[in-house]
Amino acid sequence: MSKDIKRIAVFTSGGDAPGMNAALRAVVRTASFHDMHVYGIYRGYEGMIDGDLERLERGDVGNIIHRGGTILKTARSKGFMTPEGRRAAYESLQAFDIDACIAIGGNGTFTGASVFTEEYDIPFIGIPGTIDNDLYGTDLTIGFDTSINTAIEAVDKIRDTADSHNRLFFVEVMGRNSGFIALNTAIGSGAGSVLIPETDTSIEELVGALKLGARRKKLFSVVIVAEGNKNGNATEIARKVNDAFDFYDTKVTIIGHLQRGGSPTAQDRVLASRLGFSAVEGLLNGQKNVMAGMVNGKVMFTPFLQAINEAKPLDNDLVRMAEILAM
Ligand code: F6P
Repeated sequence: MSKDIKRIAVFTSGGDAPGMNAALRAVVRTASFHDMHVYGIYRGYEGMIDGDLERLERGDVGNIIHRGGTILKTARSKGFMTPEGRRAAYESLQAFDIDACIAIGGNGTFTGASVFTEEYDIPFIGIPGTIDNDLYGTDLTIGFDTSINTAIEAVDKIRDTADSHNRLFFVEVMGRNSGFIALNTAIGSGAGSVLIPETDTSIEELVGALKLGARRKKLFSVVIVAEGNKNGNATEIARKVNDAFDFYDTKVTIIGHLQRGGSPTAQDRVLASRLGFSAVEGLLNGQKNVMAGMVNGKVMFTPFLQAINEAKPLDNDLVRMAEILAM
């Protein structure tokens, strides 16, 4: 056990994700069990630069496991991308005599942590908190399950009105450059088609599928559009499809930041608790500059650059199944 880690700082960074509070709670409770002092950094790297730290004790994380968002606030920090900003952040950590940091966030967060730990010898452990599920080294990221539940609930409601009016809806979901949210939302909602960055489905192919459905007397349809897909956003796709095939009265719904809020699901709460617990015990066991993840039900630690840069492909069998079930 690494005995020289007695004071740790924890922060949430990047896009917020349901379950971040559950992870924070687990970090504070596990560290307290090991007689460590925990400091919460507000507003991610921005707060680190500003020295915006506050002691967190067991009671400070009571009654938050069910809350969406993050009680530490979050931010995207341009300042931290500069050597001067990182120097200021280091000085803040020194001023609070911090021995190690735990970063709850996504790609951008671990990119920053990777650069910072090259410059300064303060161990970091990352916890994958992003709805995108686009980090290698963990089957699921915290917030992903809640976001697809939110998206599927939204599409269920869209389906009601699409059915009532015999309309074609294009529903845009988040996911940045990945299609995990879109694919799982399409499967879980029984959508007609899905456009994801990982496949190069063309407008012509989509129109062909819609025409087939129309011939089969499919009087309404819902298409899920991943925001990062190659054909453009849902509004642009709807226009292109309408120009080629105006059989349906077409509408567009962008679910947007609804996918980022809400009370975390049981799965996200348990995942967040396991990763928060493992991050603290990992630090004590000498882990540093790695992301804690769950792979096949087991905790794994992956170097930051691998977590960020290693491809995390969609399951092709799932993509094929989605296409067949949608026919
Ligand atoms: O990374 C999470 C995410 O929700 C992406 O899916 C989305 O593209 C982005 O954040 C939106 O960022 P912001 O909240 O800054 O608009």
